[in-house]
Amino acid sequence: MNREQAHDILMRYMKGENYITHSYAVEAIMKGLAKRLAPKDVEYWGIVGLLHDLDEEQCDWQHNMAVHGPTSVEILKKEGIEDKTLFDAICAHNPKSGVKAKTPLQYAVLAADPMSGFVKAVAQIYPDKKIASVKHKSVMKRFNELRFASGANRDYMESIEFTGLSLDDLIDVALEEMGAIADVLGL
Ligand SMILES: [Fe+2]
Repeated sequence: MNREQAHDILMRYMKGENYITHSYAVEAIMKGLAKRLAPKDVEYWGIVGLLHDLDEEQCDWQHNMAVHGPTSVEILKKEGIEDKTLFDAICAHNPKSGVKAKTPLQYAVLAADPMSGFVKAVAQIYPDKKIASVKHKSVMKRFNELRFASGANRDYMESIEFTGLSLDDLIDVALEEMGAIADVLGL
């Protein structure tokens, strides 16, 4: 599956604008992480990010978090995709699916997902609400304020360390890569 096919599938199953921009943000961070961790697989890591929430509007995760991830796998299989690496990474981004992250790709998506929302939340504090205004130091300061964006799981973000990168690296990548598509993200 290439990026175009992945995007095609995403557009068919995801309609909410916020979900779609979130998917683009996680795709961007995943590509940035891949540049450092798996330079030959930048597009593939991006696809994992793009599709990680594919089932967001297709399953009742509000009542049962365990179905978030496995439902995406079912959808992809229905679309003729067979890719265990992709399936496992999608499920690992939600540990409540029962799949625990083990590989760098899986830890990357586990960490990139909350970081994308966290950086957006920090940008929204600024008068211009622009990611260009956000400094690394401000992200770190807010990270340590546990009441700020309390839904963004700090442990998941810190699990980037299992890939060999640091939380500082993840913040740099998120600011750079989300900043590069700021117009698309509306930030
Ligand atoms: Fe997500």
